Amino acid sequence: MSKPRSSELASTGDGRVETWVVVAVRSLLVIDLRSDTLTRPTDAMRAAMVGAEVGDDVYGEDPTVARLEERVAGLFGHEAALFTPTGSMANVLAVRSLVAPGQEVLCEASAHIARAELGAHGAYSGITMRTWIDRRGQVDLPTIRSMFAPDMGPFFVPTAAISVENTHNFAGGAVLPIGDLRDLREYATGVGARIHLDGARIWNAHVATGTPLAEYGAVADAMSVCLSKGLGAPVGSLMMGSADAIAEARVWRKRMGGGMRQVGILAAAGLHALDHHVDRLAEDHEHARLLADACGLDPADVETNIVVVPRSDAAEFVAAARDQGVLVSAVGPTAVRLVTHLDVTRDDAVKAAAVLARI
Ligand SMILES: Cc1ncc(COP(=O)(O)O)c(C=O)c1O
Repeated sequence: MSKPRSSELASTGDGRVETWVVVAVRSLLVIDLRSDTLTRPTDAMRAAMVGAEVGDDVYGEDPTVARLEERVAGLFGHEAALFTPTGSMANVLAVRSLVAPGQEVLCEASAHIARAELGAHGAYSGITMRTWIDRRGQVDLPTIRSMFAPDMGPFFVPTAAISVENTHNFAGGAVLPIGDLRDLREYATGVGARIHLDGARIWNAHVATGTPLAEYGAVADAMSVCLSKGLGAPVGSLMMGSADAIAEARVWRKRMGGGMRQVGILAAAGLHALDHHVDRLAEDHEHARLLADACGLDPADVETNIVVVPRSDAAEFVAAARDQGVLVSAVGPTAVRLVTHLDVTRDDAVKAAAVLARI
């Protein structure tokens, strides 16, 4: 359960008391499992933000952003990284670094880039997509082979890249095994295709499997990671790739209105999250298994922090849970999604499990 934090109390002046009271009452009553984006920065993270050394990042003069970009690029073994306000922008920049206007990227049908970025890759980058379907969001190499068409003459869109998502959000936080990703890498290299990795929750895959981040990084030509999901930062993602791709992405980020100034304040939250919030993701995974069990699913099927519960009455289920102080979301008419995160304690998970089991 989200507890009101002392810093919020301290920062509350005249006229904001009511806001704090509303927040406090709501947070005391509700266990919010709608998304891992809902976390609020811890007091320690806020302190790190307050103390951040900053400069104008559009001038390339913010030392904290530079430190974050260098550190994250190093973790994944990429030449360079670029801080972005959102994961969607990091994905748009990463995919466009691999795929030219009029070309296509192949991805799984429920991938975030295909379903939840509002057509950004078409709208901004002139890119089309073709998809394969896998209930667990996995790499389907035989189907990818059959779809890959880099040059079928002047009547067909040329395929330039293949995109994968790890963990896969709408497939219930499923992990893509490193072996499958390596096989895809080998295939892509052989046929001259590029690979994009949407690693918004790659941290969860890393903690769940023990696979080093650099091994995930090695399979991708360009990738994104998010600091504002399980890691609990308020804002921030990074795109990674070659130094040339990042130099070009820096221009496109500015063109899209994403050039930020003294943004080291946010980068400091990301650095704090990397220091303190990666290993603890294992707790979120444990809590997710507990919730899955309560919903009649096999906990062993839950690999990370997302549980998708098939329910023909998804809207009613969401309403009944809300009435009992547990917020969950419907993902379509026949499925409910529960997500554990930094602001859900074990006690919260146990309480929510009891409510969901009753429903
Ligand atoms: C897998 C995945 N990729 C990318 C994003 C986009 O992140 P943002 O909301 O910061 O744009 C999300 C958001 O939930 C996501 O789940």
